[in-house]
Amino acid sequence: MRCVAILLAAGSGERFGRDKLELRVDGKPLWRHSLETFRMHPLVDEVGIVTREDKVQMLSEEAPEADWVVEGGKTRRESGACGLAAVGERSDILVLFHDAARPWVSPELVTRVIEAATEHGAAFPGLTPADTVKQNVDGKWMTLPRGHLALAQTPQAARADWYRQAFAAGDEATDDMALLEAQGFPVTAVEGDPRNRKITHPTDLDTMDLFHQPSDIRTGMGYDIHPFSNDASRPCWLGGLEFPGERALAGHSDADVALHALVDALLGAAGLGDIGEHYPPTEAELKDRNSAFFVTETVHQLRSRGWEILNADIALVAERPKIGPRRPEMRQRLAELLEISAERVNVKATTNEKLGAIGREEGVAALATVLIRR
Ligand code: CTP
Ligand code: MG
Repeated sequence: MRCVAILLAAGSGERFGRDKLELRVDGKPLWRHSLETFRMHPLVDEVGIVTREDKVQMLSEEAPEADWVVEGGKTRRESGACGLAAVGERSDILVLFHDAARPWVSPELVTRVIEAATEHGAAFPGLTPADTVKQNVDGKWMTLPRGHLALAQTPQAARADWYRQAFAAGDEATDDMALLEAQGFPVTAVEGDPRNRKITHPTDLDTMDLFHQPSDIRTGMGYDIHPFSNDASRPCWLGGLEFPGERALAGHSDADVALHALVDALLGAAGLGDIGEHYPPTEAELKDRNSAFFVTETVHQLRSRGWEILNADIALVAERPKIGPRRPEMRQRLAELLEISAERVNVKATTNEKLGAIGREEGVAALATVLIRR
């Protein structure tokens, strides 16, 4: 099922007192935080934004990561309907509505919601209230059982055909699940995240700092070495680049030592073991496999666990091929595979001063370190 995330950003911020879209949080516009989280998420295929008429142009220019930007409506239901219209009549689609006013949505939460909605048809993240909740009925206070209550957050996901029917019914509601509930569709709750707060009142910003500080920062290292191959027809791959005319490295996959060291550093940082466990050399389908595949898969594994990659530093130890002239290109390629900016990737190369096996041009080694946080 194709998964489309829709950022709702067409509100007027009445309770906040000014335009929430113009807020900058942690050095970025408010809306960019969740936009990036969805864009990077391996289970999300498409991201659209619904905004006010006067912001469509600005967001189309400033958010090239979005697949589309459309105008919303006066109410939240109308804005949701505009988003759904932009998705069109495609079948087999899961739609996620998310409040642009919730910048700190985590990739794990997105995964939980998508998995539950894929299985049950519709799902939302719910938090059990920490305070006791009371209701006034005909002038008399009574206490609601907390275990039966949930504070509903976003993203709220459902099959597009369910949403289409529910939105067409025309009821007003403060969230998207309420429209489904009103039409009798079953909705499922998954565990919400206290950090996934919505900016509603100006005072919400006071406590934001407490929530967005990444609490977990880790480093990982990797090392790999491969001998040169005697197979003259085998291509030479290093750092994600092909080196035409150069002697290839021997190995089960394409034997790209730099990428293997990088994968080990990533897995190591996230506590996920090593490359041999994930991609055993005994697996026939990995034979001659381009190692870029291992990197992108590993990056997705880390991202779906909520890790953000801050930087990578790679050192190649080789008498040949000459890396220097292709260093900028290699840096660019590695940045592309890691889905981070090239400025966060560094490539170094050294010879082994003719010492030992590498010095005798018997093979090439690589070392990598990475820093990740969530
Ligand atoms: N939203 C929307 N279209 C509307 C109303 C709300 O897209 N007509 C979006 C908001 O931009 C926000 C999300 O729905 O990202 C949650 O709404 P809320 O926090 O209520 O934001 P506002 O409606 O902007 O604030 P207020 O209700 O205080 O005016
Ligand atoms: Mg509102």
